[in-house]
Amino acid sequence: MSRRRRIYEGKAKVLFEGPEPGTLIQYFKDDTTAFNNQKKDVLSGKGVLNNRISAYLMTKLAEIGVPTHFMRRLNMREQLVREVEIIPIEVVVRNITAGSFCKRFGVPEGQVLERSIIEYFYKKDELGDPLVSEEHITAFKWATPHELDEIVALTIRVNDFLSGLFLGIGLKLVDFKLEFGRMWTNDEMHIVLADEISPDNCRLWDAQTNEKLDKDRFRQDLGRVVEAYQEVARRLGLTPEDGPADTAATPLTPLVIPPAR
Ligand SMILES: Nc1ncnc2c1ncn2[C@@H]1O[C@H](COP(=O)(O)OP(=O)(O)O)[C@@H](O)[C@H]1O
Ligand SMILES: [Mg+2]
Repeated sequence: MSRRRRIYEGKAKVLFEGPEPGTLIQYFKDDTTAFNNQKKDVLSGKGVLNNRISAYLMTKLAEIGVPTHFMRRLNMREQLVREVEIIPIEVVVRNITAGSFCKRFGVPEGQVLERSIIEYFYKKDELGDPLVSEEHITAFKWATPHELDEIVALTIRVNDFLSGLFLGIGLKLVDFKLEFGRMWTNDEMHIVLADEISPDNCRLWDAQTNEKLDKDRFRQDLGRVVEAYQEVARRLGLTPEDGPADTAATPLTPLVIPPAR
């Protein structure tokens, strides 16, 4: 990873220039942060697990027709992705109450919401990622109304699919955060799922015991953080024996472009 041009270093990942124009390499670090960077640690092995889990989930989503930035996993810590123009909104889906939602509304953790709730946060660390509405998003032109419709439609599909996938392996998908980006193909713009899907940005509880198997173990000092991520990977069928070769030889994950609406 030394000679490649470093495009951006974030809290959990580094983005490098990819081998071809329009591609990037995402390098997954072990660095872990919470509460807008106030709590930090290095959790040995976390990056390898998130690279693996995110690659798997993005591949599964592509299989049901959700367009994603993911192309293929390159090695233990890196994946090849399509470069997109990130829309500066964190899209959060809540199925069960937890985290900041409980604080904001004074509700106890663990209440099953009658309907899933989509929330938006403006991606701006300096401002602490404030909660915004659809009106803010379109008025500030972070996304057009049409793009927002597309984002909501994709988000609902991702939630339905991942909720079922996780329940099948004995995990409740409590909530999660998605990021989307714009990608151009022959002058046409498409909204695609970007960033990562991992226990860093999903809350996952054991379906029987409600044991937390996600970043809340770090936020709440519950210990055994990497072991929890490892357990998620294990239940997904991603065994540690599989080295980088297990996906490197597979063809590129096709970008599925939805028909024009
Ligand atoms: N396909 C992509 N193209 C361009 N930028 C991306 C892509 N996927 C993710 N990103 C951006 O790369 C960064 C990932 O690094 P991360 O460490 O998660 O950053 P942050 O600390 O901002 O959360 C994020 O800012 C994310 O929006
Ligand atoms: Mg991030």
